[in-house]
Amino acid sequence: MAEFTRVADVSDLPDPGKLLVEVDGDPVALFHIDGHFHAIDDVCTHDGGPLVDGELAGHTIACPRHGAKFDIRSGAALSMPAIRATRAYDVKLESGGIFLRLREASAGPVSQTTASAMPAVPVAAQPAASPAASTTAPATAEPAAATVAGGGNAANGLAEQTLSEDLVREMLKDVKDPELFVNIVDLGLIYNVTIASEPADNGRQVAIDMTMTSPACPAGPQLIADTKRAVGSHRDVGDVEVRIVMEPPWTPDRMTDAARDQLGIF
Ligand code: FES
Repeated sequence: MAEFTRVADVSDLPDPGKLLVEVDGDPVALFHIDGHFHAIDDVCTHDGGPLVDGELAGHTIACPRHGAKFDIRSGAALSMPAIRATRAYDVKLESGGIFLRLREASAGPVSQTTASAMPAVPVAAQPAASPAASTTAPATAEPAAATVAGGGNAANGLAEQTLSEDLVREMLKDVKDPELFVNIVDLGLIYNVTIASEPADNGRQVAIDMTMTSPACPAGPQLIADTKRAVGSHRDVGDVEVRIVMEPPWTPDRMTDAARDQLGIF
């Protein structure tokens, strides 16, 4: 078992308060709430956001980048887009100092000198990996994979309706983020849709400006490929161009109420 490391003096951290400290070179977010100290990795498991900079409400810290919430007592991920817990630390108060030790995965929190042990909080349920999810799927995947997106538009008749921007957005609801299981329109990832007024030899060109929830989103190649398939399934569409734009950056307030309901964000 790891040793406790002194990271700060008790007097360094008012109540309520939060402080960035280090344990073995790792950034750790230390909190002081209602006479209790708690510590979790200062790393959001969605895409590395600095949790100590987030807004604290009770025992919940919100990642400042895309809004994922974590329980500061256990590190449990409480809301999307994070699906994994961040690491929690046991806290010991001694001789005016605050000491941290990385908590073993199955261990409960260690009692503090000035605080009783907190109730165990379960790690948020994690959805099973989708068989369609792949971080390596190329944007030009072969039609054999087209059942992932696009097939629904043929089945529900959208692929036969008059082509318009609204229809394209409706067709894009067939594309789901493989980590969040919410369609990319309700997630607010589609910024702009442009349809060429004059058809080319193979049909009308459609250009889509799309963003990602983070620059390093591992689902990016799959989302691009699925977007092309979903729109390309329309009878009048020729080429589909997907342009990834990171300005303005995606934020949770771009999501529709339907997406919020699905993700449990209120
Ligand atoms: S990096 Fe924290 S929610 Fe995306």
